[in-house]
Amino acid sequence: MMKKTLLITGGAGFIGSHVVRLFVNKYPDYHIVNLDKLTYAGNLANLKDLEDKPNYEFVKADIVDSEAMLNLFRERQFDGVIHLAAESHVDRSISNPTEFVFTNVIGTVNLLNAAREIWKDNSEGKLFYHISTDEVYGSLGSEGMFTETTGYDPHSPYSASKASSDHFVRAYHDTFELPALVSNCSNNYGSFQFPEKLIPLFINNIRNNKALPVYGKGENIRDWLWVEDHARAIDVIFHQGKVGETYNIGGHNEWTNIDLIKLMCAIMDRKLGRESGTSEKLITYVKDRAGHDLRYAIDSTKLQNELGWVPSLQFEEGLEKTIDWYLANEEWMNNVTSGDYQSYYEEQYQKR
Ligand code: NAD
Ligand code: DAU
Repeated sequence: MMKKTLLITGGAGFIGSHVVRLFVNKYPDYHIVNLDKLTYAGNLANLKDLEDKPNYEFVKADIVDSEAMLNLFRERQFDGVIHLAAESHVDRSISNPTEFVFTNVIGTVNLLNAAREIWKDNSEGKLFYHISTDEVYGSLGSEGMFTETTGYDPHSPYSASKASSDHFVRAYHDTFELPALVSNCSNNYGSFQFPEKLIPLFINNIRNNKALPVYGKGENIRDWLWVEDHARAIDVIFHQGKVGETYNIGGHNEWTNIDLIKLMCAIMDRKLGRESGTSEKLITYVKDRAGHDLRYAIDSTKLQNELGWVPSLQFEEGLEKTIDWYLANEEWMNNVTSGDYQSYYEEQYQKR
């Protein structure tokens, strides 16, 4: 296998940490550089197990800093980029949209410019792989699924910023012949997810007997995929995907929020030795999210037929596994909710 230097951005976040782990362990001949600003969502404790691996390196940097990006790319001459760094939470994009434009749009363009600069004389075998979301396609009614040709119709500031970044990646491919591709994935769940997102937030609240704030009537539908299956799809697309193409990634696994929450309550009652029905009493209907998309559903036929990827885990099994992980990793959760995780970089890295 050819020796490659790969840049993975956002590797201290939820999905990024799974992608970094997969690549560092599976490809000992690759040198993996994880670049992350360590915002509130970045937690280096997610990658404790990789700290001493010789093919892994962490760089703390902000993708919005164009000069720093250009210097880093010139210095390191990356062969490939897997770009996950982003502001990722819809509710935060409603309270502070501008931050999403800086990181998701300008940050992405800075990386594209830096890649274009170092690959301008020879882009053979290079790849800029942009990780995106199904939210760019907008909202579905009760029928149909998003395919790679569905038109963009973003509704939240988050999805508008991701849609814009997707367009820039494709524009750099079409205009400058930058070797690039994009994948759009549905909702991920699994270990190391920041507990502002539905599944880890509700697991933590159920454990602590706190209210479960269900937006609106809980009728919105999301299509859930195990994060490690997303990481496997990213591996397959990075190595076998066609430059210039788009791949949709999803688990064909739609749930209304309320059905999913009730399932989580039932599993948690069993695991915590509580009488059946106890946790459901914590459900509290609250004001709906502004512009709340009704339904997402991804058609991943192209990825399955052309590249042979299929999800490995059934949802019920994955959800049990995920709940078990959060229950067994109470310290991780407590460090995140207390804010202690934010000193991990100073404690573990700056003293090195
Ligand atoms: P996350 O919020 O858990 O992690 C984002 C990471 O990016 C963090 O480590 C953060 O520190 C880093 N980051 C943020 N701003 C940065 C900046 N300016 N410079 C450098 N690093 C910065 O996000 P996630 O859920 O892991 O999502 C990762 C990517 O996957 C995002 O691009 C997101 O849009 C996309 N995605 C997420 C999902 C999902 O369900 N979570 C689904 C589809 C696509
Ligand atoms: O579809 C992919 C997207 O999935 C990613 O691009 C985003 O980065 C990721 O955050 C996720 O977005 P959602 O908005 O779907 O995820 P979230 O966990 O915030 O919410 C899931 C559903 O649950 C949504 O319909 C809103 C609802 N919800 C969420 C929270 C946090 C609640 O009812 N109550 C809550 O407290």
